[in-house]
Amino acid sequence: MCGIVGYIGKREAYPIILNGLKRLEYRGYDSAGIALFDGNDIQLCKTKGKVASLEEKAEKEISRKGSLGIGHTRWATHGVPNDVNSHPHYSNSGDLVIIHNGIIENYDSLKKELIKRGYTFTSDTDTEVLVNLIEDIQINEKVKLGKAVQIALNQVVGAYAIALFDRKKPDEIIVAKLGSPLAIGIGEDEFFVASDASPFIEFTNNAIYLEDEEMAIIRRGRDVKVRKIKGDKLVAPYIQELQLNLEQIEKGGYDHFMLKEIYEQPSVIKDTYRGRLLAEKGIVKLGGLEDYIEKFINADRIIIVACGTSWHAGLVAEYIFEDLVRIPVEVEYASEFRYRNPIISENDVVIAISQSGETADTLAAIKLAKSKGAFVYGICNVVGSTISRETDSGTYTHAGPEIGVASTKAFTTQITVLAMIALRLAKAKGTIGHRDFMLYLRELELIPNHVEEALKTEDKIKEIAAVFKDVRNFLYLGRGYNFPVALEGALKLKEISYIHAEGYPAAEMKHGPIALIDEQMPVVVIAIKSDHYDKVVSNIQEIKARKGKIIAVVSEGDTAVREMADYVMEVPHTPEALSPLVTTIPLQLLSYHIAVMLGRNVDQPRNLAKSVTVE
Ligand code: F6R
Repeated sequence: MCGIVGYIGKREAYPIILNGLKRLEYRGYDSAGIALFDGNDIQLCKTKGKVASLEEKAEKEISRKGSLGIGHTRWATHGVPNDVNSHPHYSNSGDLVIIHNGIIENYDSLKKELIKRGYTFTSDTDTEVLVNLIEDIQINEKVKLGKAVQIALNQVVGAYAIALFDRKKPDEIIVAKLGSPLAIGIGEDEFFVASDASPFIEFTNNAIYLEDEEMAIIRRGRDVKVRKIKGDKLVAPYIQELQLNLEQIEKGGYDHFMLKEIYEQPSVIKDTYRGRLLAEKGIVKLGGLEDYIEKFINADRIIIVACGTSWHAGLVAEYIFEDLVRIPVEVEYASEFRYRNPIISENDVVIAISQSGETADTLAAIKLAKSKGAFVYGICNVVGSTISRETDSGTYTHAGPEIGVASTKAFTTQITVLAMIALRLAKAKGTIGHRDFMLYLRELELIPNHVEEALKTEDKIKEIAAVFKDVRNFLYLGRGYNFPVALEGALKLKEISYIHAEGYPAAEMKHGPIALIDEQMPVVVIAIKSDHYDKVVSNIQEIKARKGKIIAVVSEGDTAVREMADYVMEVPHTPEALSPLVTTIPLQLLSYHIAVMLGRNVDQPRNLAKSVTVE
């Protein structure tokens, strides 16, 4: 939530920061702002709205000069999105300027204290409290800025990634991190600061990722000094070589990142199993798992913690693990798990799933599980993310950057990893026969081709989207492995089109939702050939009897459902345990096209942000 960018060097900071903010806009887009410093004047410009509005305003209102600057794109936590609450924020003297991603939980008591000391506030933000706290310490304790930042951060409770500078120090930016990501790009005589590496990828491949409770003083043309926020220890920074390239973070000819990411699925699923799955040789091997196989197969149970789409991937895994590995699985919303005093023991294995690797609730669930002695395994997409570092071991999904706020390729690559883990464990535990094992490996290798085929039905799906774009409600139904796909289909539709949609296990419909069905109600039913086929057919008949409109996801060659359904979206056949990897594709495309037809902002839907680093 919130993206931060900074630059200090020899070039004009404005274009670098503006471009960086555009790349980070997926992190929040309620408002945006920038502060530039040319050594004499600070120019600050901020506005409610997107980075494009900031650009328009900055071009009219400021000279945009200066080789030091910081910029921010906001997802509001404290204070409504408006010009005043936008970042950057000045301290009372006007000397310090700060941007902040995160939340200061004790801001209210700190603010009251500062008001008593004569400070005034123009915004409702916790950030303005922090910058004044730093200033107060700087003045009253007569310490240098770095020390004042350190003392202040020891007083705050919450999460932050901050960047700030001082009018009196034209060659210095200070940054710090706890719970929100912060990368420092190391160029030649220039440094970049950002929430992820995408804003500076064309300038340098070298970056330092600050750890939690670290701060850094970045000095123009000199160095980056990293130290612990608690205590006075200097840290030797680890400079990482980045794998990211510019192409990965651009739209590559697609109208939206979401569509690009939907179409990337055949290749990123391959990337996910490349070097890990060799069907011909009967090998499935995950580096992070090999040393912990015994731990998994002797576990009393597996607990999966995640949020949103990642939670849906966890639900699919529950079916796969229980089917193939015969280990009890519980799937928990991380936000509930962390607060309900869960019973966890050393014999439990916890799997945390997170695309961003930064989700606050998932991170807290991991910490809780670890504190109770459980072994925690992470499945993340973002390399080096907090969750990937906090977990005992894990597997990266290798989906590449996911920029569309609605998760697509992250979901299918998470399921790919989870299926590989299940197959490896089933083999080790002896709960799968050799023939079935080999069959699953071969079928998993074929998934990219099946996804490719499913994508070819896009034109047909577009026609269906045109028919239903104006309805106000949708129902999604699925059974077994495809119940979580129904949930995911409904989530995709509501988050990008703002149409209300609910996902249900198909048989549960008659316990309530059936009351909603009339001739206005489209019902998306996942009705592929599977053990549940006949049961789903009965559910379809129940809907038809009440005049509901059926949009069915069917297996290639299906005739029975085709005859009953009003519209069909066809997918290739694959074993039921792997079918979510394919059945989810038409649902992604359906949501996408409905949202486009309604003129929604597909990549940046209202009120959402890509990585939810506040609880
Ligand atoms: C939905 C979506 C969210 C995320 C959720 C968890 O399209 O993107 O529901 O899945 O916020 O995020 P991660 O996986 O980054 O922990």
